[in-house]
Amino acid sequence: MTVPKKRVVVLLSGRGSNMGALVEAAKSPDYPAEIVAVISDKANAGGLGLAHEHGIPAIAVPRQGHADKAAHEAAVIAAIEAAEPDLVCLAGYMRLLSADFCERFAGRMINIHPSLLPLFPGLDTHARALAAGVRLHGASVHFVTFEMDGGPIIAQGAVPVSADDTPDSLAARVLKAEHHLYPHALRLVLDGKARFEEGRTVFAGIEPADDAVRLIAPAIA
Ligand code: GRF
Repeated sequence: MTVPKKRVVVLLSGRGSNMGALVEAAKSPDYPAEIVAVISDKANAGGLGLAHEHGIPAIAVPRQGHADKAAHEAAVIAAIEAAEPDLVCLAGYMRLLSADFCERFAGRMINIHPSLLPLFPGLDTHARALAAGVRLHGASVHFVTFEMDGGPIIAQGAVPVSADDTPDSLAARVLKAEHHLYPHALRLVLDGKARFEEGRTVFAGIEPADDAVRLIAPAIA
C-alpha cells in the first residue's frame, strides 16, 4: 500500500545508526515518513556521510562560527524550517535545547534515549544500568519538552541484562532494540496514534500496553 508521506528532519551529532534505521523504514511505500534532511552540529558526524550516501540533504551547522548558543540555535532552526518538516526526530543530538527551541517544536519533536525512562536520563546510561543492577534495560522514544529526557513517553523497547554484560555489550543489545523502536514510534506519531496533548501522550486506535508487549519480543530476538 502506498501512503502519503510526511516530511521528517533528523538532528544528530554522531554515527547516525538510528537515522539509518528511519531511512530504511521510510524506503517502504507504506511507511508514512520521508526523511527530507539530516542536520548535525558536528561537521564530521558519521551520520552526515550516511545521509549523503542515501541521497538525503546532509547539513552541518557547527557551533563554531556562532557568537553564542542562541545564535547557533537560530541557525539550526533556520535549517530545520527550510526543510518544512512535519516532524523533527532527534537521534543522538548531543546539545541541550533551549526552552524556546522546545516550545517552537512542541508536539512535533521526538527523541530516542537509551534507557527505560524515567530511569537513567542523561549520559552513560548503560554503565549506570549495570551499576544499579537492573535486570531489564532498554530505550525510550518520547516527545521533547524542556526537561531533558523528561517528555512524555511514546514507546519503549526492553532488553534483558546478562550477568556478564559490559557497558558495550549492553549498549549493542539496546541499540539493536532502538533500530526497531524508533521507526515504530515515529509511525505511531505520524499516523496520529500517539499525540502530544497538555504535556501527556494521548493514544488513539492502539492499546499502549499491547504495543509495549510487542516491543519486548523484537528487542530480545
Ligand atoms: C543512541 O543510543 C540514542 O539512543 C542516543 O544516542 C545514540 C545515537 O546513536 N540518543 P546513533 O548515532 O543513532 O548510532
